[in-house]
Amino acid sequence: MKQFFDYLSEETGKAFAAAGYDAALGKVSVSARPDLAEYQCNGAMAGAKRYHKAPFMIAQEVAQKLQGSDVFADVNVVKPGFINLNVKGSFLQSWLLQMQKEQKFGMAQPEKPRKVIIDYGGPNVAKPLHVGHLRSAVIGEAVKRIVRYHGDTAIGDIHLGDWGLQMGLVITELQHRHPELPYFDESYTGEYPKEAPFTVSDLEEIYPYASGISKTDEAYHAEALANTHALQEGKRGLRALWKHIINVSVADMKRNYAALNVDFDLWNGESTVNDIIPVMVRQMKDGGFAHESQGALVVDVSEPDDTKEVPPCMILKSDGAALYTTTDLATIKMRKDMDDPDQIIYVVDKRQELHFVQTFRAARKCGLIGDEAKLTFLGFGTVNGKDGKPFKTRDGGVMRLETLIRDIDEQMLEKIRTNKDIPEEEAEKTAKQVALAAIKYGDLSNQASKDYIFDTDKFTSFEGDTGPYILYTIVRIKSILKKYQESLQNAAAALPDAVAEPKSSAEKALMRDLAGFGAMMENAYEELAPHKICAYIYQLSNDFNSFYHGTRILSEEDENTKKGWIALLALTERILNTCIDVLGFSAPERM
Ligand code: ARG
Repeated sequence: MKQFFDYLSEETGKAFAAAGYDAALGKVSVSARPDLAEYQCNGAMAGAKRYHKAPFMIAQEVAQKLQGSDVFADVNVVKPGFINLNVKGSFLQSWLLQMQKEQKFGMAQPEKPRKVIIDYGGPNVAKPLHVGHLRSAVIGEAVKRIVRYHGDTAIGDIHLGDWGLQMGLVITELQHRHPELPYFDESYTGEYPKEAPFTVSDLEEIYPYASGISKTDEAYHAEALANTHALQEGKRGLRALWKHIINVSVADMKRNYAALNVDFDLWNGESTVNDIIPVMVRQMKDGGFAHESQGALVVDVSEPDDTKEVPPCMILKSDGAALYTTTDLATIKMRKDMDDPDQIIYVVDKRQELHFVQTFRAARKCGLIGDEAKLTFLGFGTVNGKDGKPFKTRDGGVMRLETLIRDIDEQMLEKIRTNKDIPEEEAEKTAKQVALAAIKYGDLSNQASKDYIFDTDKFTSFEGDTGPYILYTIVRIKSILKKYQESLQNAAAALPDAVAEPKSSAEKALMRDLAGFGAMMENAYEELAPHKICAYIYQLSNDFNSFYHGTRILSEEDENTKKGWIALLALTERILNTCIDVLGFSAPERM
């Protein structure tokens, strides 16, 4: 099935051609003045110069040719030469009937699906997840699903921070507290215990503690560095201890991500590429790309056109230790060799932009990956509190992700309990579902690169541009459909699919929204922009609710009219559900 706007543009293009102009001028978009028209075409303005003619005249000639079109009902030319267009109800009807029948509502499948790796989540082992991790997880998951819905292969990789100084710090503190453990005994040759000598809560206390000490205590810091290095070199006891840290921490992460309906195909980390680093470094040296600078190994990545300085990429420190950039580069090499992706998308805090500029340049320069593969940095802004400051400061009151989610769950449960008398168990499940929508929609409805304010009261409201409002709309539709089926004395009755011509402007607006689904999804894919889906479902929900408030659906006496409306509702529900699934949340049966 063609894309809706392409179809409208073709129809207008034919009129341009019939009037003797280039058909490409017929591009149609949503009207910038919805009070005047539904759609518009600015082609006459673009053609004026080319054809040495007043745009108004061109527009009039084109409008003339559009008379009798099956697609457009009224065509109006306004000065200086805009063509304002309204579509025919019968056209919308046939479009929706077609959409209903097709897979993905008629959205095209890519001829050659691309392979896309999404690097998101990026939590650090031994540190609790905090609100700063929310965005990478939520946006990354949505982007992965957008790419999949488009028809590409998407691989989600968590890229754990499991190899840096933080591991050395935790190990050092454990050594101070429990020097008797076999992991620290150089002469120990036996099997190490299966059980970790700590819990996840221990780890979460140990890391910030060790990190604090190392900031003031130089000897402690040096010990941590030495332990990091020994770990990376493969010292047996430290590796065994490190494995425990990973296992304990990852089990906890899995639980946290599951609560967010976020899941990864790969649980790789910085450590995964440890053995690739020497090979990569050799390649960089042999190719003459890396050189020594003050004992360290670096790759120059500045370019003549840089307006801001892009410092060299440090590959190895003077003590031979690998850095954040080193593991990211080796990961690119591994991904290239294993999956040969068409694109890698990094969903990371936008403050890391320079790191990725350096990494991408170094990767290309050293031939780790070719130009045919796209490397995309999708940087996101900060989550702020109502005071406009970061929701959590690094050492100030740490807002754990878990706590945040629990608070919102509880708030939602209160609301749901007072709204209806739903059995407690269902209320709890529903509250979790609605809370997740509140959090995710609250985040995703903002353009990723912008900072936003985490406003719990606003996010959890059942009214306005919120997740719960969208769910409420879906639940409302479900309930009407259910009542309709009950009125047939058959709860399992198939719903009618005969969408009819619109009978009111509200109904027509709803139908136009639905018709634009594919175009919107394509756009969200091209721009990797979940917020476009949010804006779409918000408008769709508003238009549905206006239609609903102005129409007595179930008490309609004309059976065919009623069936047409029910079909329209069923399609609206399917599209809303598809959208929220792509965004990574779901709707309850009632709320
Ligand atoms: N662990 C990193 C951090 O906390 C984020 C990882 C982002 N992904 C990457 N490939 N570098 O800052």
